[in-house]
Amino acid sequence: MANGDNVARTGAIEALLVEQRRFPPPPEFREQARVKDRTPWEEAERDFQAFWAKHAEAELHWFRKWDQVLEWNAPWAKWFIGGQLNVCYNCVDRHAQSWRRTKAAIVWEGEPGDSRVLTYQDLHREVQRFANVLKSLGVQRGDRVSIYMGMVPELPIAMLACARIGAPHSVVFGGFSSDALRDRIQDAGAKLLITQDGAWRRGSIVPLKQLADRALAECPTVEKVVVLRRIGATAGAQMVEGRDFWWDELMADAAPTCPAEALDSEHPLYILYTSGTTGKPKGILHTTGGYLLGVHLTSKWVFDLKDEDYYWCTADIGWVTGHSYIVYGPLSNGATSVMYEGAPDWPEKDRYWQIVEKYRINVLYTSPTFIRTAMKWGTEWPAKHDLSSLRLLGTVGEPINPEAWMWYHEHIGHGRCPIVDTWWQTETGMIMITPLPGVVTTKPGSATIPFPGVQAEVVDEEGNPCPPNAGGFLVLTRPWPAMLRTFWGDPDRYVQTYWSRFPGRYFTGDGARKDEDGYFWITGRVDDVVNVAGHRLSNIEIESTLVAHPAVAEAAVIGRSDPVKGQAISAFVVLKAGFRPSEQLRDELREWVADKISPIARPSDIFFTADLPKTRSAKIMRRLLRDIAEGRVLGDTTTLTDPAVLEEIKRQYEETE
Ligand code: WTA
Repeated sequence: MANGDNVARTGAIEALLVEQRRFPPPPEFREQARVKDRTPWEEAERDFQAFWAKHAEAELHWFRKWDQVLEWNAPWAKWFIGGQLNVCYNCVDRHAQSWRRTKAAIVWEGEPGDSRVLTYQDLHREVQRFANVLKSLGVQRGDRVSIYMGMVPELPIAMLACARIGAPHSVVFGGFSSDALRDRIQDAGAKLLITQDGAWRRGSIVPLKQLADRALAECPTVEKVVVLRRIGATAGAQMVEGRDFWWDELMADAAPTCPAEALDSEHPLYILYTSGTTGKPKGILHTTGGYLLGVHLTSKWVFDLKDEDYYWCTADIGWVTGHSYIVYGPLSNGATSVMYEGAPDWPEKDRYWQIVEKYRINVLYTSPTFIRTAMKWGTEWPAKHDLSSLRLLGTVGEPINPEAWMWYHEHIGHGRCPIVDTWWQTETGMIMITPLPGVVTTKPGSATIPFPGVQAEVVDEEGNPCPPNAGGFLVLTRPWPAMLRTFWGDPDRYVQTYWSRFPGRYFTGDGARKDEDGYFWITGRVDDVVNVAGHRLSNIEIESTLVAHPAVAEAAVIGRSDPVKGQAISAFVVLKAGFRPSEQLRDELREWVADKISPIARPSDIFFTADLPKTRSAKIMRRLLRDIAEGRVLGDTTTLTDPAVLEEIKRQYEETE
């Protein structure tokens, strides 16, 4: 092993080299790629509406063609006005009626090792039946349906069935607590909940139905509940007579055919809650025509999807990545989408590589956190498997550091596979900044350039474009088809959150710089959003949860940089009189947060302090706490009421480190 000095020196040389590295598309990849040259960008720059319209026409099935491509009353967008289509029809029926009838649509691997394959014909049958189940339970066009499930094939079936009858779904990540589920059901005003008895996670059972029951006690809008049997009796699901129904029993009685409804292009497709800068999660609303076009075309071009590919996105469908790039994008293309139920280290740390080998995966889309975790586990795990089927690799969710990029390139792609680092958000619906793998030369750590038709800019505080390499705020300067339309039930907040800081432009909440080649380097959130292992959480939501604990008077939560997870949560907590700091209380608070929000929100460390640094307007200066937690020189402290408070926290923090 190298000693510390050597490591440091190699690191410095590495860093220099990293700056220089460029990876043009391998010629053999370019030759077979769906996009081989700059034509799409040129077309889109000539007339971006004509560009999107051309592909909407060529790629999607419409019951009725639109009259107008775009109506843009900033910040309100309508795409393909007057057009009628159905997302489920596009994702299922048109393939079930073609030669793809017998092609695998969903290839599913259960955590315990069971597996299932659903062809497009199978999916067509299941989706129609389940759409009839929904109708028989009183669900009508426009009614919201909440879904709280694990990664089972019935989850996309349920989503597609909702889309088929025009009932917007709201999928709630199965790792969320019952309180989080309750808030989301209430906000959406859902009429029906679909869940399952339990889900597998690292060999143990997450009792989803029991958690759902707790939430439902405070959700009067929910009339009926459908429960899928995944685990069996050991999950301990109790059925409420007249309210709860087993999935299999309903399906056995369901009529086999249900036509896909012709829906307006702007008909709501789904609501997906994401963390914002306040305690209350926001319901991002996506609609039909524009969203489908956005995810269809990005899936096809960014992942270079071919009919013979096995494509695997490792995300959970509870997040937007799963919505867009496990379900809607790939299926609209008639692709084979692989789905895995469980944890990457179950039963061993090579589960992902085992799946790649077993199915001979061609395109793999995963997160930087997973790549860094795999690096930590060691190269022996991927080395045990034949990964030669892979031809393209992707990442999403957080910035990828050049070291992790290189490791992915070498140990997974064996130097052969282009890497697409894709930047986007729940709000954007579709990938926005990304290489197209047959055309764009990549630089490790950069998401490269905007997708054709998309326009992005890095601006300073005043909204002026930054010179090359200067850090600033990432904004989007032109409407795009898959953009969110509003916040569910809160249009004012939609305007306020995204369109007020730089009027006429969409503010992403991310910091970035653009280099001399016009490549974007995303540096991470600049607002009160933490990104832990690619999961978005709100500082303020965690703070409010801590303050709801009887022992806590005040709390400040920050994301400090973490070598594996990107960011980890540090909480600075002021206790109420009569409570004393202890290890036990620290553990209790960590579990409290995990239980109230989700295990992903559990603070990595809790630091007890007598006071918090505040400005004269009583705003907690999280930025300064982050400086302390990351061992930096303190930033500007002149606005603090009492700078001594900060000095004291710093002293104590350094003592305990
Ligand atoms: C971050 C996930 C750097 C970013 C699709 C964004 C990224 C937030 C990248 C959205 C990337 C996503 N490089 N940062 N390639 N992709 N992010 O809504 O901070 O869960 O604002 O959507 O993740 O997270 P969300």
